[in-house]
Amino acid sequence: MDNVMIFDHPLIQHKISILRDKSTGTNEFRALTEEIAMLMGYEALRDLPLEDVKVETPIETCMTPMIAGRKLAVVPILRAGLGMVSGILALVPSAKVGHIGLYRDEVTHEPHEYYCKLPSPIEERTIIVTDPMLATGGSAVTAVDFIKQHGGRKIKFMSIIAAPEGLERLSKAHPDVQIYVGHLDRCLNENAYICPGLGDAGDRIFGTK
Ligand code: PRP
Ligand code: URA
Repeated sequence: MDNVMIFDHPLIQHKISILRDKSTGTNEFRALTEEIAMLMGYEALRDLPLEDVKVETPIETCMTPMIAGRKLAVVPILRAGLGMVSGILALVPSAKVGHIGLYRDEVTHEPHEYYCKLPSPIEERTIIVTDPMLATGGSAVTAVDFIKQHGGRKIKFMSIIAAPEGLERLSKAHPDVQIYVGHLDRCLNENAYICPGLGDAGDRIFGTK
């Protein structure tokens, strides 16, 4: 899978281990999700386009590179993907934010769309789709389908934990999408939850259930 990057950085692995712990409370879970997204974003944004701008230093005027304006959009998959947005915005505060609302049917595990609002024009932007969990891959594939239907072209997908099944499905469905994964877990269980995983990411971020 040429379009997949699985992180092995010790800071990311350490923070994911704390996320997994069922005794980690909402406050800490939220903070860690943000921090991991920022660490992953640092690498995922390596190819952001730059443009030279004129800056006067105390010594002289020079042309020096800055991130080219209006180039990045972050698109969280609701709800849990929201928890990663602030980590990316800490790196690129001027990024626009879109939203895709999807929930998984508890029985069929198929994703259902309930909201989609993307920044315009989407065609020109690098788009980072965020969702902490890539389980069956249904939500991720559907989200990327929507973004492409709306004209998005340069799309990256970032998840904190992935199951092999979901990673393969997304990678095959959208080989042009670069996928960033914090940790690749063992498998899915009979309820399509990731094992060992961290449980329901949305519930843990928002303190529901
Ligand atoms: C979770 C998670 C992903 C999806 C992953 O969302 O945040 O979006 O499941 O599963 P999949 O790869 O099998 O599609 P959920 O549907 O629980 O909604 P929520 O974030 O609103 O809780
Ligand atoms: N969604 C979650 O939040 N966790 C899983 O393990 C699978 C899907």
